[in-house]
Amino acid sequence: MGNGICRKGPASFYAVDLKNPVTVSEETILAGMKIFRTNCAGCHGEFSHLSRWGTRGFYPRVPQFADAPPSLTAPEMFFVVNNGIPYTGMGAWDGMLSDVEMWQVVTFLNNLKSLPEPVAAEWKTKR
Ligand code: HEC
Repeated sequence: MGNGICRKGPASFYAVDLKNPVTVSEETILAGMKIFRTNCAGCHGEFSHLSRWGTRGFYPRVPQFADAPPSLTAPEMFFVVNNGIPYTGMGAWDGMLSDVEMWQVVTFLNNLKSLPEPVAAEWKTKR
């Protein structure tokens, strides 16, 4: 992301003490993908299609993760998802998703470039 320093700054600062509590497994990644499709894809897009809303309706624009997976670490992403990003369309999911669900979706994003085969097949399936 452009402007990485100021956006990522607090996330990397606060994420230092966070540790991903979920096991990184095919099951977790699949669960994360489902959470992503339900809650995030409307803005962040899917493998088969970018989000029109996300690419046109927001400034700053919503990163389209199928094209450009986030480069943040899992704890940094957890911090971002939990707290949102002030003054952008990225809301805080605290209270909307459980901590486990947030870690699952973050684990999915973290493995987007190397999804286990069955999950990759599902991800590439057009909905
Ligand atoms: C209403 C639209 C919207 C929804 C829904 C949404 N996001 Fe975002 N998200 C954004 C925007 C806008 C940004 C970029 C903000 C910026 O430029 O700093 C963002 C940024 C992020 C980032 C930081 C990316 C980076 O590389 O800096 C992560 C991680 C993220 N979102 C995860 C999620 C997850 C996980 C969900 C679902 C639980 C979700 N978002 C739902 C709009 C959205």
